[in-house]
Amino acid sequence: MRSSTLLRRLLCVPVVAAITVDTTSVDSIKTAASTAAHGLMSFYTGNNTGDTPGTLPPPYFWWEGGGMFMTMIDYWRYTNDTTYNDVVSQALQFQVGPNNDYMPPNQTKNEGNDDQGFWAMAAMLAAETNFPNPPKDKPQWLALAQAVFNEMASRWDTTTCGGGLRWQIFSFNNGFNYKNSIANGCFFNLGARLARYTGNQTYADWAERIWDWEQSVGLIDSGYNIFDGASDTTNCTNPDRLQWTYNAGIYLHGAANMFNFTKGASIWQERTAGILNASSIFFTNNIMEEQACEAFNTCDNDQLSFKAYFSAWLAGTTALAPFTAPTILPLLSASATAAATQCDAGQTTTQCGFKWSVGTANDGNFGIGQSMASLAVIQSSIVAVPAPPGQESPAISFAPVTNSTGGTSVGDPEAGISNADAAGTMIVDTVVSTRDKVAASFLTVAVLGGVIGGSVIMVIEG
Ligand SMILES: *[C@@H]1O[C@H](CO)[C@@H](O)[C@H](O)[C@H]1NC(C)=O
Ligand SMILES: *[C@@H]1O[C@H](CO)[C@@H](O)[C@H](O)[C@H]1NC(C)=O
Ligand SMILES: *[C@@H]1O[C@H](CO)[C@@H](O)[C@H](O)[C@H]1NC(C)=O
Ligand SMILES: *[C@@H]1O[C@H](CO)[C@@H](O)[C@H](O)[C@H]1NC(C)=O
Ligand SMILES: *[C@@H]1O[C@H](CO)[C@@H](O)[C@H](O)[C@H]1NC(C)=O
Ligand SMILES: *[C@@H]1O[C@H](CO)[C@@H](O)[C@H](O)[C@H]1NC(C)=O
Ligand SMILES: *[C@@H]1O[C@H](CO)[C@@H](O)[C@H](O)[C@H]1NC(C)=O
Ligand SMILES: *[C@@H]1O[C@H](CO)[C@@H](O)[C@H](O)[C@H]1NC(C)=O
Repeated sequence: MRSSTLLRRLLCVPVVAAITVDTTSVDSIKTAASTAAHGLMSFYTGNNTGDTPGTLPPPYFWWEGGGMFMTMIDYWRYTNDTTYNDVVSQALQFQVGPNNDYMPPNQTKNEGNDDQGFWAMAAMLAAETNFPNPPKDKPQWLALAQAVFNEMASRWDTTTCGGGLRWQIFSFNNGFNYKNSIANGCFFNLGARLARYTGNQTYADWAERIWDWEQSVGLIDSGYNIFDGASDTTNCTNPDRLQWTYNAGIYLHGAANMFNFTKGASIWQERTAGILNASSIFFTNNIMEEQACEAFNTCDNDQLSFKAYFSAWLAGTTALAPFTAPTILPLLSASATAAATQCDAGQTTTQCGFKWSVGTANDGNFGIGQSMASLAVIQSSIVAVPAPPGQESPAISFAPVTNSTGGTSVGDPEAGISNADAAGTMIVDTVVSTRDKVAASFLTVAVLGGVIGGSVIMVIEG
């Protein structure tokens, strides 16, 4: 026994080894993902008696639950491990709200389009992976995604900036004046996926419109850099140029869906390739990094989870636009290998650190976002395992189903359309208390403060 180990025993510190993952082995990736999934779900208490299914403990916001259950659907589809499926299904059904549109009364008064969008994308992924369907008398995955899509379409706002979705749904929330890439990205991503899943051209037309608008105001520039957002008080003429992994990921994956839906249209090939090329700013030695905040230790709880969605959408892109695989697969393998070395810590010794590039020395930064990002990149790397001789690449074998290729989720194209609050004009009956307003404005000030503070160090263009 080495003395350091002896010392750890004496101090009752659990002796653990960093996970080593062999990214050429499906079994090795599954084992590592199982450890990381355990670490992630150890933070979740929503399924305990008296707790609220779907919500995360403070200080995490409601939207991140949508992101976490999305990640756990991917966990099941990449590993076949059904351990968490019941908990995931319960959460996704509990939060649908009375209009079956992911606007539950507990959340609506400060719910943004992106918040609603993350839950809808989780439902969309459930449809695309044939995640077990809810009982027939309950809202179905595809219909939930369609309800949110339809409500977003009704909120499209041409009064400023020539169009776009606002960040916030309700005018009394700070951020109503901000038109941002993530809110519009959720709408774009859902539209592209619904087009591919259902074959209905109306969704694709919307995806085109949203993309064109993003470019028209410079939120996507000529080099396919995607910027955070712009204020409509100046008609979106002065975008905030921070770049986040999840914005690159959400548009990349949406563009790949459009590429696939259009059977390889060159315009979507160019856009998919362009975003991927611009995404090189998020990698150092092939290891993913949240470049706007990670090196400076300034990522907030939301931002700590962004690498999770980027990882998932990179992996998803390889199935839909196979020409991207030679670029994406080495990034996933290298990032997964690095991330796994950090998953040996926290109370459960299965929680993961955040800075994958620092190697085996755990950076001591634990939480839901950190563990979710590690799990997502580790499980996503399964698409990079070399294909056995004579067989198709694993990436293709994880291609999302559609209505005509085995998808079983039942849709409703009219879902959400008649909801009174769809356009954000609803007068919320519980008058927003002063306390909530103060809390909301602190939040926005913190967000804007972060944006301004971050601008100094951000990478402006590739
Ligand atoms: C909640 O889910 C976890 C798995 O994530 C499980 O270990 C635990 O037993 C569940 N709790 C209850 C009360 O069902
Ligand atoms: C999951 O199960 C399917 C169907 O049995 C099988 O084809 C696939 O190889 C399994 N995937 C993994 C990662 O074990
Ligand atoms: C709303 O909050 C109440 C009180 O905490 C809780 O009992 C209820 O389950 C919550 N509903 C949803 C859908 O989260
Ligand atoms: C605002 O921007 C849109 C789109 O770029 C443009 O069509 C419109 O003319 C602008 N409005 C004003 C008042 O400048
Ligand atoms: C669309 O996706 C399928 C499934 O992964 C793939 O086989 C096909 O080649 C893709 N289409 C194009 C045009 O790349
Ligand atoms: C697939 O779409 C067709 C209409 O295009 C519909 O009749 C059918 O029910 C759908 N299948 C499922 C499983 O939703
Ligand atoms: C296509 O989608 C649009 C928009 O949701 C809807 O109005 C229309 O009914 C759909 N068409 C079919 C054939 O489902
Ligand atoms: C790829 O991105 C780099 C910056 O990272 C840029 O200089 C180059 O022009 C881009 N290439 C293409 C083909 O877009």
